[in-house]
Amino acid sequence: MTRDADDRYVIRCPRRAPGDPDGLVSARSLRHRQAVEQFAHYFRREFRYDFLHYEAGEGAGWDRASQPAEDEAAAYPFASGCSYDGRYVGAACFRWRLYRDIPPRWALAWVWLHPYERRRGLLTLAWPVWVARHAPFAIELPLSDAMETFVRRQGRCLACWDRPLAAGQTMLCAECVKALSTGDTDKRLGDPA
Ligand SMILES: CC(C)(COP(=O)(O)OP(=O)(O)OC[C@H]1O[C@@H](n2cnc3c(N)ncnc32)[C@H](O)[C@@H]1OP(=O)(O)O)[C@@H](O)C(=O)NCCC(=O)NCCS
Ligand SMILES: [Zn+2]
Repeated sequence: MTRDADDRYVIRCPRRAPGDPDGLVSARSLRHRQAVEQFAHYFRREFRYDFLHYEAGEGAGWDRASQPAEDEAAAYPFASGCSYDGRYVGAACFRWRLYRDIPPRWALAWVWLHPYERRRGLLTLAWPVWVARHAPFAIELPLSDAMETFVRRQGRCLACWDRPLAAGQTMLCAECVKALSTGDTDKRLGDPA
């Protein structure tokens, strides 16, 4: 973090290095992990968490070839949607979670975009890449209103990643609700063991 780290009204976006690709970059290099950490600070500030959801020093993260360890991160900085603006403008982080009722899987732990870059389709662009790489993934609760709208619009059950959602179902199809039942299933899907 910069010296502005203690000023909760300053949002700085790290510059991209020449040669950084435009699309979604895995945060395997330290520079990218530092960018993700910076956005984790902003995520924490905006949603008033009392802990930081990601630290650059926690290691290079999942290498896509190996079985992930419990809680291992697969993190992604977002490049600006403006091709002339060489900055990262947000980040997301998946973690490999173990659950009580369902097999281990990736979970989208958090995602945060600079306010000026929201509602410009960045999450929509990232989503199919993540689906290809991490599905079937959970999404950790609580969801922000924006995220809940986004998830509902996908229209697909996030447990089986197969059946469509009926009106009023946010994340799980009726069959999965039944299969996972006893209690608040949406919460359980977001609730690590
Ligand atoms: C949630 C967030 C990642 C969404 O990313 P995004 O790139 O802005 O989303 P997109 O532009 O791809 O939006 C796609 C669709 O999602 C829904 N959506 C996204 N943001 C929304 C909002 N603020 N209100 C209502 N619907 C929203 C809309 O259906 C939107 O389609 P539309 O713009 O054609 O109506 C981003 O708004 C953000 O970082 N918010 C602050 C942090 C946060 O809420 N994180 C999630 C914590 S669970
Ligand atoms: Zn289902």
